[in-house]
Amino acid sequence: MKIYIGSDHGGFQLKTHVIKYLKELGLDIEDCGCHTDEFSYDYPDVASITCDQFLKDENEKKFGILICGTGVGISMSANRNRGIRCALCNDMFTARMTRLHNNANFLAMGGRVLGTGLAEEIVKTFIHTGFSGEQRHVMRIAKI
Ligand code: RB5
Repeated sequence: MKIYIGSDHGGFQLKTHVIKYLKELGLDIEDCGCHTDEFSYDYPDVASITCDQFLKDENEKKFGILICGTGVGISMSANRNRGIRCALCNDMFTARMTRLHNNANFLAMGGRVLGTGLAEEIVKTFIHTGFSGEQRHVMRIAKI
């Protein structure tokens, strides 16, 4: 499984932690920036870079993870890209349900909202939960 991950300065610390966590799980990670929190970095820019890299990859087993201060701006930005279904999840129930019902392919989180332990659990839940594949959900996703 390949994970494309990006953050702005507000999500940089949590992104650094999540990358370490995912590497320990043995996953293939592409860090799409930013690379420091010493300067401001606009979340629409890193969302765009991360989505472009993800969409270029023809493998099926892949996810994106985006982190800004709240997770709001970066998820809004990601969802402007056709083919990206980015869910802002600051709890595990949402992470599970958005995989089951929305087949979300991007997870957004708030670096100034979550502690590292909860973020790890959210990431784990998101990447290990499959889409239910139920027809009503397939039909609704097609309407987006
Ligand atoms: C940056 O200060 C902050 O606005 C950003 O990280 C994010 O929370 C926006 O939604």
